[in-house]
Amino acid sequence: MVSRRGLLGRLAVAASSAGFAGCSRILARSAGDPGVEGLPANPRADELPVRQYAQSATLTTDDDGNTVPPRYRRLLLLDLDEEPSLQAEQVVERAMRTLEAAYDWSPEGLFHALGWGTAYFDRLGELSAAPISEPEVLSRTDDPALLGFDAVLVLASDVPSHLSAVEHAMFGAGDDLNGESIDGDNALGEVFSVSERRTGFVGEGLPAEHADAEGVPGDALSPEDTEFMGFFSDRDGTQASEGRVAVRDGQFADGTTMHLSHLRLDLETWYDAFDEAGRVARMFSPEFSPEDVSGFGTEVPFSDAVQEHAADFDVVGHQEKVAQTRRDGEPVILRRDFNTVDGGRPGVHFMSFQRSLADFRSTRKAMNGWYVRDDSEAITDRENNGILDFVTVTSRANFYVPPRNRRSFPMR
Ligand code: HEM
Repeated sequence: MVSRRGLLGRLAVAASSAGFAGCSRILARSAGDPGVEGLPANPRADELPVRQYAQSATLTTDDDGNTVPPRYRRLLLLDLDEEPSLQAEQVVERAMRTLEAAYDWSPEGLFHALGWGTAYFDRLGELSAAPISEPEVLSRTDDPALLGFDAVLVLASDVPSHLSAVEHAMFGAGDDLNGESIDGDNALGEVFSVSERRTGFVGEGLPAEHADAEGVPGDALSPEDTEFMGFFSDRDGTQASEGRVAVRDGQFADGTTMHLSHLRLDLETWYDAFDEAGRVARMFSPEFSPEDVSGFGTEVPFSDAVQEHAADFDVVGHQEKVAQTRRDGEPVILRRDFNTVDGGRPGVHFMSFQRSLADFRSTRKAMNGWYVRDDSEAITDRENNGILDFVTVTSRANFYVPPRNRRSFPMR
């Protein structure tokens, strides 16, 4: 019997020799076209956001008016098993439409986005023309693995079993996804294999539920904590809007760039070495007290006095440093990071979207705080320098997330 994968490979060869691949497709993709040659327009195109990462319109808000992010996350980092071809492109697009048919675009349903990594653009010979570049080492204190993947499937939901069901149906033996049948025509596993998975959570109660992991000081976490380090980090005013991070025009318009890093957390020192005031100074700014922070609503006041704080307090905060990269009062990166115990230890998968990776790099450099070392001898590359002493970056990777109707094999 011919395996589905074998058949697909042969079809791919036939397609490229018939001249489907290559630049003729760029012409076929004028604005407003359905996206993938040979497929009808996406039947849900009108009800779903053009931007794959757009969620905010469907999210609820908390008592302070901040949007509440979906609680469970799973990232599947993918390697291509097939050379790019029209057939592979159709399978991937059908698979993504199957996710859309199976679940509502909402926290009770499923958010998903397919991004394409540096290895994919490199494979096409298009990395220099792509909107992303290889990841870089961005601090003097970390030695991260600089990773390249073909693609990433980003999944998020309030219902953790949806994430497992998607992985099983798309990459395992499942032949059904919430009533939608899965076969060789619409399974991502026909085209990709999963190289790595990143799992995690964000939201009230979830860090405390993971207190059994090594390195998580359970007695320090309260049932109200949404994040391992004890502070809510998703106030609307500290996030770039979904519009701000979209590429504005050209062939990548309405897509965005995505950075993904894994950070290990030293929670034992974080909770042992400081009281709440010491943690507030390092997370936000030494000008704030714990009471100030609990009074913040959708905004964190930003006094733009990092160097003065270094000189006066011998400590600077994470938020006040990174807020210096705001433009016109708005942050330039949209953080979608989440807590993890992958590898059995506490950490953060730091995922962010930004119009250009340069926005991420400048934010990360602001976080390094090199510019305050002359203002206080107590501030080093790590010590008294925001949260840097408690965070170790182990890996970095970059992706491009196209708009929905161009999500399958961009630039092919
Ligand atoms: C363990 C890792 C991290 C933790 C626990 C953390 C925590 C926080 C917290 C609590 C805030 C305040 C936001 C609020 O009150 O809503 C914040 C703001 C922010 N963080 Fe982080 N952060 C981490 C890593 C990073 C990294 C790696 C970057 C990027 C390089 C970053 C960039 C930002 C930005 C841009 C803001 C908003 C600043 C503004 O108000 O303009 N963070 N973070």
